Amino acid sequence: MQTSRSRKSALRGVLASAGMFLLLAALAAPAFGQSLAGRWISEGRKLDNGEQEKSILDLKQNGNQLTGTLKTLGFEVDVKGTASGSHFELFVEEWNPSRPVLVGDLVNGELHAMQGRRMVVAKPATAADDIPKVAYIEPPPLKTVPSNGLAQTPPMGWNSWNLFQGRIDDQTVRTMADAMVTSGMRDAGYIYVNIDDTWEGVRDAQGNLPSNHKFPDMKALADYVHSKGLKLGIYSGPGPRTCAGYPASLGHEEQDAKMFAAWGIDYLKYDWCSAGRIYKNDALQPVYQKMGAALQATGRPIVYSLCEYGMGGVEKWGPAVGGNLWRTTGDIRDEWKSMIDNVEKQVPTAPYAGPGRWNDPDMLEIGNGHMTDDEYRTHMSLWALVAAPLLAGNDIRTMSDVTKSILLNKEVIAIDQDALGKQASPVKNGDLETWVKPLADGSVAVGVVNLGSAAAQATVKAADLGLAGPVKTARDLWAHQQVKFAGGAYTEMVPSHGVLLLRVSAK
Ligand code: GLA
Repeated sequence: MQTSRSRKSALRGVLASAGMFLLLAALAAPAFGQSLAGRWISEGRKLDNGEQEKSILDLKQNGNQLTGTLKTLGFEVDVKGTASGSHFELFVEEWNPSRPVLVGDLVNGELHAMQGRRMVVAKPATAADDIPKVAYIEPPPLKTVPSNGLAQTPPMGWNSWNLFQGRIDDQTVRTMADAMVTSGMRDAGYIYVNIDDTWEGVRDAQGNLPSNHKFPDMKALADYVHSKGLKLGIYSGPGPRTCAGYPASLGHEEQDAKMFAAWGIDYLKYDWCSAGRIYKNDALQPVYQKMGAALQATGRPIVYSLCEYGMGGVEKWGPAVGGNLWRTTGDIRDEWKSMIDNVEKQVPTAPYAGPGRWNDPDMLEIGNGHMTDDEYRTHMSLWALVAAPLLAGNDIRTMSDVTKSILLNKEVIAIDQDALGKQASPVKNGDLETWVKPLADGSVAVGVVNLGSAAAQATVKAADLGLAGPVKTARDLWAHQQVKFAGGAYTEMVPSHGVLLLRVSAK
């Protein structure tokens, strides 16, 4: 029989081991007190090249506030969010401040969350669990890469990312190329067919990067696209990995550029993403210069598109690295606010646009289904007014007549492709925003966008247009008809989120 003393010590022992257990449990899996703080690891999806994606989520919790970072093979971003009991929501503000990137619950010491439409399970991790480290490579000294003379007007074409993301393959590119011809897109100027991320295989022992099973023969695909009177674009980045986690060009710039040229590639989009893990923003210029020089050394004319989300004053040094266009913003989404935010963010870059050097507010979402037709007409008008690259991001094979009428509006395309290459800037008056773009023949394009939620009357005053004389002709580029200025002005009702787009001339 136990004495009271021994019972007490036994109880102490039980309490002590329970305390130890609680402590260990709290360290290993923060299931107690519903804390989400700590490091979490999730395997993520299998990439198309057979490699395994991986995510590391580092979280701090203060009351119901969560902060931290989310790392994958391809990127590292800050996350912010809230916890309520075991439920949590995490946002990447720079991507979308209103839609969570992860929503889920703490279940038996694991995070069970939805990432978009995918279920993710994250387990407690140790500090040793991490994304593979890569060796730092010193960026080259600055020099000027001579201009390649390409993209004298903003590049036009189609890109796979906005609609297909990772679901892009050889067959889809071929059928899209066919549709570029039959729909009239090619003849309207949309020449580049651009494969975005997820084409990459696994780099071999010689450092060559083959395509993965979705693209069995890149050279044959380029030949096919060329046979249609189109050009083929591809995608890589200056870091070890692309945003989607595939091998990118760090340390293999010349080898990859040569391979692109040998395949017959005509356009390269070069995406920063994981380069941010190795380099600070002050290395943007030399790092982009490295691929710019490598592309030029191939002797093949390849449009060079920098994708660095507007960082580092790219509009000032983009041409010096051999760049033809560069992103001025984060990724566009198929929604009104994202589209307007992107084009407005680009305003300070206006003085730097011109033939061969274009600011890029990202690819078009026209026809992808989440904006109204008026909003898509505004999207097209604004991209033309700011001399943006016109890279359609919808399914050209199945697009509706309305989508066609927007993407194929030749009068609007002519504004975008105008030889003077000026980027319009806006003047705001309440809900109405007026963008004026001087054109090579002395006329101007003027767009009035209604940002408000009700129809509004837009007035274009001739005196605001900088014309050399009184208005002689004016044309409404969406109604496809001449309009008349009276008393030095033209007035028309513009629907909510719609646009009035005129070409006005003093000749
Ligand atoms: C980044 C780019 C996108 C697209 C994806 C591909 O997010 O900004 O345009 O290329 O990467 O992973």
